[in-house]
Amino acid sequence: VYNGWDCKRSGTMGAELSPIEMAKYVAGRRAADLVEDGMRVGLGTGSTAAWLVKSLGARVRNEGLSITAVPTSSRTAALAREVGIDVVSLEDARWLDLTIDGADEFDLAFNLIKGGGGAHLQEKIVATASDRMVVIADPAKAVAQLGAFPLPVEVIGFGWTASRKLIAEALEGLDVLGREITLRMAGETPFRTDEGNLVLDLHLGRIGNPRQLALVLNQIPGVVENGLFIDICDAVVIGHPDGRAELR
Ligand code: 5RP
Repeated sequence: VYNGWDCKRSGTMGAELSPIEMAKYVAGRRAADLVEDGMRVGLGTGSTAAWLVKSLGARVRNEGLSITAVPTSSRTAALAREVGIDVVSLEDARWLDLTIDGADEFDLAFNLIKGGGGAHLQEKIVATASDRMVVIADPAKAVAQLGAFPLPVEVIGFGWTASRKLIAEALEGLDVLGREITLRMAGETPFRTDEGNLVLDLHLGRIGNPRQLALVLNQIPGVVENGLFIDICDAVVIGHPDGRAELR
């Protein structure tokens, strides 16, 4: 069942999926069934969202599903086109019925850390321009408290070291465990987002008050957007390696 078309398209050429990849596949495949004909849908970014896009592509080709799709990154746009999904800009779609995206962490209140792939700016814009946001995840993404995953913060290149200093100062007064800040690299050069900006990863260990932190970070000059998604996610589809999918 799982080594059919989707896996071959993913380049595994029919090889067994690892348990974690199977869980991601199940989450993406199950969430694709939430999409109804005629819907305007935001397509997330990342390895889990890639399974969603491939599963939706299969529905478009096999069932004639008709959707208006808005990608959250250039990577997702390219994949969507490859699997037969036409994409439009958010300006053209104006508003979306549903966005489905992955996450790096989600807590009991469905607050999220996103941006492991550096796409959290577009992801947040698209998710908040949607009636509903559904997260797709493997079980390891569920946490009691956010913060073990480094929090991505997109900053503009101009004066980024000053922005980093201001972020470090702001962290002093906040309920976090660690305070290390690293510039995300892509090999030898700094990683650049689709908007050409930089990403700082905040190694916080534990975030005591995610809402407060999200507000504080976005007040700092040079910060474009942080990876905390507060009160944005409505539901989570958790895929399991044994093929079960859980909708919370
Ligand atoms: C990209 C994201 C991704 O959704 C997040 O990093 C999860 O990715 P994956 O599904 O590959 O674990 O926020 O910016």
